[in-house]
Amino acid sequence: MELTLKSARRYVDEIPAPLAVVGVWGGEFSEEGNKLDARHRKALSKMMEELHFKGDFGETLLIPLGSRKGEGPGFALLFGLGKKRGVSLETVRQAGARLVQEIARLGFKEAVSETFLSDKFGKKEASYALAEGALLGGYAWNKYKTTGPASKRGEKLRLWLARASGPAVEQAAIVAEAVNYARDLVNEPPNVLTPAELAQRASAMAQELGLEVEIWDENQIKQAGMGAFYGVAQGSANPPRFIQLTYKPQNPASRVIAMVGKGLTFDTGGYSLKPSEAQITMKCDMAGAAAVLGAMRAIARLKPEVEVRAYVAAAENMISGTAYRVSDVLKSLSGKTIEVLNTDAEGRLTLADAITYADRRGADAIVELSTLTGACVVALGEKIAGLFANDARWGREVQEAAERAGEKVWPLPMEEEYLEALKSSTADLKNTHGRSRSGGAITAALFLAKFTEKPLVHLDIAGPAYTEKAHALGPAGGTGFGVRTLIELLGGDEAS
Ligand code: BES
Ligand code: ZN
Ligand code: ZN
Repeated sequence: MELTLKSARRYVDEIPAPLAVVGVWGGEFSEEGNKLDARHRKALSKMMEELHFKGDFGETLLIPLGSRKGEGPGFALLFGLGKKRGVSLETVRQAGARLVQEIARLGFKEAVSETFLSDKFGKKEASYALAEGALLGGYAWNKYKTTGPASKRGEKLRLWLARASGPAVEQAAIVAEAVNYARDLVNEPPNVLTPAELAQRASAMAQELGLEVEIWDENQIKQAGMGAFYGVAQGSANPPRFIQLTYKPQNPASRVIAMVGKGLTFDTGGYSLKPSEAQITMKCDMAGAAAVLGAMRAIARLKPEVEVRAYVAAAENMISGTAYRVSDVLKSLSGKTIEVLNTDAEGRLTLADAITYADRRGADAIVELSTLTGACVVALGEKIAGLFANDARWGREVQEAAERAGEKVWPLPMEEEYLEALKSSTADLKNTHGRSRSGGAITAALFLAKFTEKPLVHLDIAGPAYTEKAHALGPAGGTGFGVRTLIELLGGDEAS
């Protein structure tokens, strides 16, 4: 849907909209709800009692108010926020998402809602969470739908947030727009979003928002010595691109952070071919890139006091007469040689060169996001990303940013003993264990860490980047996971 959020200083019942929403938390109204109830001769509380409305999370009750046109809202909507215990800003965020879906389902084009739990969490925090949730929950992917109900295709909704913080709503809009931008990139089919197209979009975004941009084509990639990256890319008719974006603050920055995102626009597995059902979601293999580009978008708008450089090695992992094979030895940009034992462990090869490059161009710390291993999904499931750090402080910084952003990450160990598995008798390293699958997320992280001495955080987002079912903050498809963490890490007040 096309959702416009407006913050207002006024109370719910002072804003002329056909629908007024108030929350019910622990079976009770807030001050806003009580005001609206009083103004309508207790119609709300009477109906609530009569219909035994408990206000479980997401439960709603629509009440006609019988106001005449132009004299206040025609309807009230009670929105359940659940029990008093265990409530958090995530409750507010998820309430925002559920609320816009419910309002759209009821067919309203305009509504006003109270800013849920403002009293508990403060106006700024509650406004931010509600607005972010609403804008994420209103996301739909329907670019390629030519038929179907209008409700699935871009209807408009204007939502007023009563007594909300204007700056918090604006900030949430910047962040949610960046997440939805990343979702769009992930959801684009791989025949459309080739490496060249991804580069094109990154470059258009950079131009629009005043970021520096440099794109390399396949010849420049080869000439630069990115043999690991090039090895993965060489099998596809769609040539690779190396994407570099830079955000520079107005005053010279004291800190330079590099973000690296895995950019496989499709991963068939190559000659170590994935079974067809495992290929179904593999357009998501550029979700790390999408997160990094989405974050850059918000950073360009939020203008933090830190220099941010983004790098994406975009390629497609395909099969052909020119594709790389098992046993090939690739020479990485770092000079290290890598024996390929599995062409499906391609991400780490592309990332190795991107990380080396990011390091050489200058960075005080690197944060890298990739849909890297199925093993990480086995370990942590589909909701949680694995966090690997070669530097405890930088690891904690990223973890805390994720916590503030409301994205779930969990630290996993970089157990040096497992490096044994990456020893090759032919080259300096091999790209996988070979036959054993154990500890696959860890060995992948250890592999990446071979390519920089700088503080490096690797987030394995193979689980949460993509979902085949609708979730609390959006529909099936790309989730935009990582964007909020990166913005929290770099774009916020704490970043300087
Ligand atoms: N892109 C995949 C990882 C992946 C799996 C992402 C599931 C999203 C959901 C990656 O390139 C891959 O295939 N990894 C292999 C590594 C193995 C060959 C060592 C894997 O996880 O099986
Ligand atoms: Zn793969
Ligand atoms: Zn992959």
